Amino acid sequence: MTQNRYVRTETSGGIATVTIDRPAKLNALNPEVIAGIDEAFVALRDDGDLRVVILTGAGDKAFVAGADIGVLAEMGTLTGAEVSRAGQEVLRRIERFPRPVIAAVGGYALGGGCELALACHLRIASERARFGLPEVGLGIIPGYGGTVRLARLVGLGRAAEMILTGEMVDGKRAAEIGLANVVVPHEELMDRARTLAGRIAGNAPVAVEMALASLYGAEENSMENALAFEATLFGLLASTDDMKEGMAAFLEKRRPLFGGS
Ligand code: COA
Repeated sequence: MTQNRYVRTETSGGIATVTIDRPAKLNALNPEVIAGIDEAFVALRDDGDLRVVILTGAGDKAFVAGADIGVLAEMGTLTGAEVSRAGQEVLRRIERFPRPVIAAVGGYALGGGCELALACHLRIASERARFGLPEVGLGIIPGYGGTVRLARLVGLGRAAEMILTGEMVDGKRAAEIGLANVVVPHEELMDRARTLAGRIAGNAPVAVEMALASLYGAEENSMENALAFEATLFGLLASTDDMKEGMAAFLEKRRPLFGGS
């Protein structure tokens, strides 16, 4: 497993927890942090036993309070486009990660931090979570996919409200508008994230992977193509041992034991 000064990974029972650990700066994303996140996910891709990833921030105040404003302040036109593109690529790799990624948000998820949470497949928020895209107040716009993914998740009107005002929403409101899947008491955040991860990890691994591929395929394709893709994946799953096991277990009234093939 790779180690980066600001990003650490712990794995237990097929569930990896990736922690962004720069609490003195509210886990703000400087280039080293972004590289560390990328390296962590690249390393996890090769772990055949991995079932689910939980992504979280160290400390009690923040998931990630945004891209590092000290770094952003130095941008010019070309470097600005490059900053945006490079961040987008890392987040895109998370979105395309073949196992489910859960963001556990227990504090500020602002700017690039909110966008990072949006690139994850599920978001669990504590009551202390604060989601926001304050970029227009800094003279920029969200540049790590925020204008695209927030609108897809909560609808254009709500996304426009958050992005144009730059105001934060708390965990409760985030859950109401679908930005978070669920809001939980702060002290329970990581336990609840692990419970959610465990529930997913108990299902057939290849089916979970194909379900993700089909969900995101549908987002990015025409209805015709998305349905054809779903049918192809459905057909592929019919040849897996896990399908035989899942159905046999149901018929035999026992719990399935999936081998992941
Ligand atoms: N980039 C760089 N440093 C950041 C940061 C960011 N996005 N967010 C927080 N920090 C740093 C602060 O500068 C401060 O560093 P210092 O102690 O060396 O001065 C430290 O993290 C703690 O933050 P602080 O502002 O003192 O905490 P707070 O509780 O008073 O306020 C926030 C918390 C989140 C409201 C405030 O830090 C903030 O507005 N951050 C910027 C959020 C933002 O605009 N993000 C989008 C960037 S595109």
